[in-house]
Order: sequence, then structure tokens, then C-alpha cells
Amino acid sequence: MCGIVGYIGYRDAYPILIKGLQRLEYRGYDSAGVALFDGNNINLAKTKGKVEDLSKKAKTDISLKGTLGIGHTRWATHGVPNDVNSHPHYSNSGDLVIIHNGIIENYESIKKELGKRGYTFSSDTDTEVLVNLIEEVQKTEDVKLGKAVQIALNQVVGAYAIAVFDRKKPDEIVVAKLGSPLAIGVGDKEFFIASDASPFIEFTNNAVYLEDEEMAIVRLGKEIKLRKIKDDAIAYPNILELQLNLEEIEKGGYDHFMLKEIYEQPRAILDTYRGRLLADQGIIRMAGIDDHLEKFLNANRIIIVACGTSWHAGLVAEYIFEDLARIPVEVEYASEFRYRNPVITDKDVLIAISQSGETADTLAAIKLAKERGAFVFGVCNVVGSSIARETDAGAYTHAGPEIGVASTKAFTTQITVLTLIALKLAKEKGEFSSSKFHEFLTELETIPAKVERALQSDELIKVIADVYKDSNNCLYLGRGYNFPVALEGALKLKEISYIHAEGYPAAEMKHGPIALIDEQMPVIVIATKKGHYEKVVSNIQEIKSRKGQIIAIVTEGDEQVRNLADHVVEVPETLESLTPLLTTIPLQLLSYHIAVMRDCNVDQPRNLAKSVTVE
Ligand code: F6R
Repeated sequence: MCGIVGYIGYRDAYPILIKGLQRLEYRGYDSAGVALFDGNNINLAKTKGKVEDLSKKAKTDISLKGTLGIGHTRWATHGVPNDVNSHPHYSNSGDLVIIHNGIIENYESIKKELGKRGYTFSSDTDTEVLVNLIEEVQKTEDVKLGKAVQIALNQVVGAYAIAVFDRKKPDEIVVAKLGSPLAIGVGDKEFFIASDASPFIEFTNNAVYLEDEEMAIVRLGKEIKLRKIKDDAIAYPNILELQLNLEEIEKGGYDHFMLKEIYEQPRAILDTYRGRLLADQGIIRMAGIDDHLEKFLNANRIIIVACGTSWHAGLVAEYIFEDLARIPVEVEYASEFRYRNPVITDKDVLIAISQSGETADTLAAIKLAKERGAFVFGVCNVVGSSIARETDAGAYTHAGPEIGVASTKAFTTQITVLTLIALKLAKEKGEFSSSKFHEFLTELETIPAKVERALQSDELIKVIADVYKDSNNCLYLGRGYNFPVALEGALKLKEISYIHAEGYPAAEMKHGPIALIDEQMPVIVIATKKGHYEKVVSNIQEIKSRKGQIIAIVTEGDEQVRNLADHVVEVPETLESLTPLLTTIPLQLLSYHIAVMRDCNVDQPRNLAKSVTVE
């Protein structure tokens, strides 16, 4: 859950590292640091705080010269965020310097051993232990840095993406990966190292993604050499040509990435079904499904695993798969599934949903399901991510990079992909007539324009946000397809505005949460025309009679709820199973505006990080 970056070549490394760290701040932002080699010495600056704080400190504290360097932006796991625990970390001799994303689980015992041999530690981190272990191996075995890294990594248990260099041999950076992502950008006489390709996209489109248990010696003037950490076998680098472009990872005139990403949804949804949804031909084409159709059609059930917002998309998918394709579905938190000894057979299909494709719990759930014989299908946004590689087949969402920590366009594009799959399976199973299938396909094609219309409520939502920005609590209610949307709305509000919020199925309210309702309690109710409308109207009446404040998300033209609610936000009408794609939009905007009004850091909420690569 940290971001790492490195450069070796002919340009000044510092600006590349700082800009790269800024792009990786979504991965963690409680402290940051850089180490540069100036031709003789290593100059290191690090600090608690954001990359911006680092850049102020580095400018005053160190020489910024050098064409070799590494940098880090941290999300603390071992040791509180402070200057000393920030990366990079030196070895005791001061010759080696390292950055690390991950966790070394057995660091305590290694630290004890190294302590007996005279090593001292200034930080509380597992990373400082690792760099000293590498140094100890280098000394005792009299080997070069690459070999020392390899031997050391065979002694550690945990997860890592590391980059380390040696002051005495400043023509190479050694990198290694297990469980945390690491990409190498391959330029002309220069190399870039990063947690993802965003730090180097303006310099090169060519990248190598390390596989788990691989390491590389990135040496000036040489081709990249990959090795397996365990058995030293040579691995051949697969140089990929990246599709990413610079505009996609910049704010493009918006105040925050989150707002930009909310507004990108019409385009993102369209990109996600483009080439797959062929309404005029009456087909859905998805290679990942077409190639494994029998697995899906013969499945006893589909198990969906995911975390956070992706788990909410999984819940929507449960409704869609069962309702349309009549396939039994179970949705599980990956973190629970992986440890509860679930019953899995080779007749199960497991769908793992993940924006980042790096979430540690989801990855572990996939590995467990594979071991037990299930067919594993991934729905990921980040191309080439660990989950995308680990699954038997998959379908990418084409949302483009999501940088705001709060997930928005990933959610709606995940629902889009899952809807396509459900529709395809429904058709293949004969659950749908051709005309019903066609109705769904043509309606799905209208969704981007309808999302665009839903976005037009932005100014109205700002006014509503102003009324409720000082609330301490908030309740979100929905039924059927919109119950998961209520959960997602509540998650968005709590994570970026720090207001306590709960999502509930509207009818469950009377079994407990109704006790919370008074005139101080804003209740956001999703009350679209299709899907238990009359029942939800009754729930609204129950809230009203207890003086709760109602903000209702309704279908365009609704009059009944308008007469009951304190505020009404309209979304266009669509098929019931597609409503989550529209009702989500006002909830995202409401959270966004409340967070901005409360002066919260919308793109980088406290204590969070974009990809959760630790348990
Ligand atoms: C919430 C949010 C998180 C992620 C969760 C899973 O806005 O972003 O809850 O959804 O950490 O992440 P991925 O989808 O990358 O596996």
C-alpha cells in the first residue's frame, strides 16, 4: 500500500521521482522520501506528510543532483508515520539504500539475529531490517548486490516490491516482487521503476511487469535480466506496449480526481461495453466468457469475492445473475472467505472483482478457490494487475485509471461488465426471449446518455449538501437492486467526509435503525419507480412520521415522493436491473460536495490508500 519509484539513466532523477510519487500518492500518503546518488554520495530526504512536504524539505536539505535515485510514498504498516520510519532506509554501513512496498512478516526474528551481530536500527520498520539483512548477506557471502538480495529474500516471509541500490556500484538498481506490483519502464538508455506505469508514461510506452517471485537487475547500458528468486532460473522479460496516456492521469481542469472520475462515467461505461455489446446484431461478445461458456453454464453456483466498493458491485451482480440468468450466487467479503474454510468444488465459478487488481484479500481468496478446483474469473480495471494475471480468465472494465481513493467509475463499470455477463448467460441458458434480450441491449446503450442527465443534478445536490454538511450521522435506504447502492452511498460518505453513515435495506429499518430517526437524521432513500416503489413510499412515510429529513432519489417526473420528501433528486427512467448505474450518481456527488464543504481531503482521505495490498 505504498508507492515506489526509481530512475536510472541520463536525465535528472529528482523531478522524475517527485512527479512519479505525486502520481502514486493514491497508494499511500502519510510520509514520503527520496534518495539520489550524486556521483559520490547518496543524498536522502524524507518526511512525515505528503509528497509536497517532501519536495519542500528536499529543496532545502539536500543536493538534488543525480541521474540515479529512488523514492517512496508510504501508507504505514510497521511503525507510526514519522520522519524516521519514512523510506528510503539505509543499511548500517550507509552504502545500501532501499524502498519497499509490502510487509516482511518475520522481521522481528531477523532483527533479533542481526542485533546479535551488532546491527542497530533507527526506525521501527520491517524495511530497515530487510536492507540490513541484504547487507549482512553481502558481507558474509561476499556476493554482489543482486545475489545478496536474492539470498535475503529467500529468508523472508511476506510481501514486497523493493528497489535497492549500492553506493559502491551506482550503475544498477536491483528490484524484486512478491505480492506487491512492480513495473519497469524501458526507455532508450534509461529505466524507470514504479508501482504502476503512471510515473513514466510521458517517457516510454514500453514496460515490463514483474511476476511474483521475480527479481531484476536494472543496469545502465544493459538489457533487463529477470531471475526467479527461489531457484535462480532465468525468466524472459515480456515488454508490453502500454495504452495509457497522460491526460488520463491528470485532473483535466477538475478540482479533484474524484469529481473528474464521477464525470467520466458516461464515457467509462461506454468504453466498457464498446465492442462487446452489439445490439444491432443481437449479441454480446466477451472473449473471457465465450472461451469458457461451458464452465459458466454448467456451474452449480457463482461465488463472488471482493472488498469494499467492489463487494457492493458484487451484491448488485447477485441480483442481476439470479434475476436474469437464474444462476445461484453467493457474495463474500474476500477477507472472510479466505479464512473460513469455505466449501468449494470444481463445479463452482468464482468471480473476483477488483479495481486495482492488487487487493491482498481478494488475491488470497482467488488462490484458495483455485487450489480447490474452482474456475476463477476476474473483473479488474488495472490491466496486467496481479488479479488479472492470477485468474483463469477475465474481463477488464475500461474505466481508465482511477486515482481518487474513493471508488466511483470503477463501481459503475464493474456493474456494466457484470450485467453484460449476466445477460449473455441468460440468453445462452434460454432464460430470455430474443425480444427481451434485445430490449436489454438497447436500453444498456442508452445508459451513458442517462448518466449524463443524472450528472445535471450537480448544482441541486450542492444545495442539498450545504444543508446536511454538518450532520453527524446519515442513513441510506434502498430495496432490491438499490439496496447495494444504499450501502455504497453510505461508504462514500463516511470515507471522504468522515460522517458516520449506514446503508440498510429499507424494510429492515423497522427492525432496529428506525430508533435512530429524529429531526437531526438525514435519510437518503432510493425510491425509483421500478422496484418495490410503493413499499419504499411506505418506508418514507414511516420516517416522515418520526420527523426524519428525507432526501429521495426518484425517477424523473415522480410526484408522489416529491410530496413527502424534503429534497428530491431525479434520475432518468430505465429497466429495474439497470437503475444502480443511475441512482449511484447523485450519491457520489452528494458525498463529494459534503466532503469539499467540510474541507476534507477528497482524493486522499485519512487512513486510506487506493490499493490495499496488505491484509
Ligand atoms: C471505496 C474503495 C474501497 C475499494 C476496496 C477494494 O471507495 O475504494 O472500498 O473498493 O479497497 O479495492 P479493489 O477494487 O481495488 O480490490
